[in-house]
Amino acid sequence: MNHSNPAPVAVITGVSSGLGRAMALCFRRNGFRVVGVSRSQPDFELDLWIGADVTKAEDRLRVVHETVEFGGRADVLVNNAGKGLYATWEEADMEELKSLFELNVFAVAGMTQAFLPLLKASRGTVINISSAAGRLWVFCMGAYCATKASVSMFSDSLRGEVRRYGVRVLDVSPGQINTGFSSRSFGRRRPPDSPGASADPDAFARAVYKAWKRGRKSMTYPGWLGAVLFGVRYLVPGIYNHFSLKMWKLK
Ligand SMILES: NC(=O)c1ccc[n+]([C@@H]2O[C@H](COP(=O)([O-])OP(=O)(O)OC[C@H]3O[C@@H](n4cnc5c(N)ncnc54)[C@H](OP(=O)(O)O)[C@@H]3O)[C@@H](O)[C@H]2O)c1
Repeated sequence: MNHSNPAPVAVITGVSSGLGRAMALCFRRNGFRVVGVSRSQPDFELDLWIGADVTKAEDRLRVVHETVEFGGRADVLVNNAGKGLYATWEEADMEELKSLFELNVFAVAGMTQAFLPLLKASRGTVINISSAAGRLWVFCMGAYCATKASVSMFSDSLRGEVRRYGVRVLDVSPGQINTGFSSRSFGRRRPPDSPGASADPDAFARAVYKAWKRGRKSMTYPGWLGAVLFGVRYLVPGIYNHFSLKMWKLK
């Protein structure tokens, strides 16, 4: 227990790999005490690691309890733990669909509800890791897109509701970043090779930290992706559909 330490506390879910790992290291480098949450143990040093499954209500309450015991506060909550699902809507397994929504949507709402008392006390920030796939449909990833569109809508509506407490909400929409994410996804399909898949998790983490510091409400990563997603969705959706269906061998 270290309640006299003035360093802010960031609680980050999904720290055992990928983007969560990179954000934990980045927030630590920038003076945060980081409480990391995942089911398997990370391979790097954290101020506190809590082994928990964020889809379970009792685990979420334990994470709050152990965070209070550890530092008595939470200044940032990063809802990062998430999974993909590669299947057409016709193929998608209903149990996998439910598990996907449990993790990507309901656990995000549950963690936020559980941490709101601490975030209100610190006038803190909720950072939700959504996806570019929440802004533009991707074939064979429709269910994943639906979960991430839900996350971004959750962010945008939550932001207004908690403003009166001084709590901020930052919605983050990354494009493809090389983390091995697709190999851990639900569903039997796997994505075709994509030229965008080599972006660096550490550069992403630095961009999120910078956006938090600047008090931004939303960001895409890389920054230019927002304009591309908008252009494709509203200006040339037919061309996008044509090439994308071909790429997924659905044409
Ligand atoms: N990589 C990309 O291209 C990309 C693009 C856009 C958005 N995103 C989003 O970014 C987030 C992180 O993705 P990533 O690429 O870093 O994936 P990742 O490397 O597969 O990491 C996922 C993390 O979530 C944790 N996790 C999974 N289920 C959990 C559960 N029930 N309870 C607690 N932790 C759980 C995993 O740890 P354990 O298995 O040890 O629990 C792991 O640490 C996800 O929300 C993803 O949708 C990723």
